[in-house]
Amino acid sequence: MAKKILITGGAGFIGHHMINYLLKNTDWEIVSLDRLDYSGNLNRIQDTLNDYKDNDKKRVRIVYHDLRAEINNILTSDLGEFNYIIHMAASSHVDRSITDPLSFVYDNVVATCNILNYARKLKKLERLIYFSTDEVFGPAPKNVLYKERDRYNSTNPYSATKAGGEELAVAFENSYKLPVYITHTMNVFGERQHPEKYIPMTIRKVRDKEVVTVHSDETKKIPGSRHYIHAEDVCDGCLFLLLNQKKIEQIKNDFGNAKCKKFNLVGPTEVNNLDLALKIAKSQNLELKYEMVDFHSSRPGHDLRYALDGNLMESLGWSPKIDLDKRISQVVEWSLKNERWLKV
Ligand SMILES: NC(=O)c1ccc[n+]([C@@H]2O[C@H](COP(=O)([O-])OP(=O)(O)OC[C@H]3O[C@@H](n4cnc5c(N)ncnc54)[C@H](O)[C@@H]3O)[C@@H](O)[C@H]2O)c1
Repeated sequence: MAKKILITGGAGFIGHHMINYLLKNTDWEIVSLDRLDYSGNLNRIQDTLNDYKDNDKKRVRIVYHDLRAEINNILTSDLGEFNYIIHMAASSHVDRSITDPLSFVYDNVVATCNILNYARKLKKLERLIYFSTDEVFGPAPKNVLYKERDRYNSTNPYSATKAGGEELAVAFENSYKLPVYITHTMNVFGERQHPEKYIPMTIRKVRDKEVVTVHSDETKKIPGSRHYIHAEDVCDGCLFLLLNQKKIEQIKNDFGNAKCKKFNLVGPTEVNNLDLALKIAKSQNLELKYEMVDFHSSRPGHDLRYALDGNLMESLGWSPKIDLDKRISQVVEWSLKNERWLKV
């Protein structure tokens, strides 16, 4: 019988890529659970499903639920058993977390507790992935790449609540033997991303010959940098973790037998925001008009550099297969052909 997977936040940017990736690469039954807020958009799933035959479309089920509330008995019996859960639902816009931190506690901590409580009642669950962020480590000084077990240092309520969700996941593995992995990933980009995010916004501004704002340090000379990773590579990394559990379970536990293994899913290369904007302009054969802005001190809670060490995943045999330049060209080309996803 085909395996069954629950994707929370399936109508979100990364969640819908996950659904697409699983449709393409498995025969699994897929359930998306989402509450469709300002960033959730069912049109993403609809757009994706257009490319599939009816048999595959039938493998996807959409369920509406706000995880601020527990998954009650009626919904539990309606959903049935799952082999896997990837918990991606979260409030993820940093600015909003600075304005309204409590709502992030509800969406990222309380909601995580609700999904973990639900998961521990399942009988066939082989693995739950708690999908976290590099931001839990805070800003990375030059030349530092954070490893999975480095200390956390949240600089905004978003990252603090994601770290809180992580600790709950660890506690559920310790207290209830819930099989959990945690992933940390950096800035993800790809098709159908929210148009306010840096990459779609830059594609649009370059196309419209507007000035692109590049976040930099106080001197306005050093641009911020990230290891950007394409959403499909992130999905590939998650599927790799689900399919290679036997191999992964042989990794020696570190830190006094700490439970709940953690994995950094890292983009192919670090790139600064100016070079990234230049790549986007080059892909469109257009000139980049830009302005460096001291974003860091004018907007506390935003960090200049994030950086993760991807050696653990590499040692297991996983790394992104396509280089950044190709991925950028792919997304620019797709976005220009599908302009409605660039509209703000
Ligand atoms: N986008 C990135 O660069 C990035 C990087 C690292 C980690 N992450 C993590 O990846 C996950 C997905 O991020 P994204 O960029 O796709 O975000 P997104 O905002 O596009 O999607 C999040 C989805 O979760 C849903 N959701 C939020 N609160 C919910 C609740 N209480 N109940 C049910 N559904 C709820 C929203 O409706 C939305 O569809 C998040 O957990 C985020 O923290 C994102």
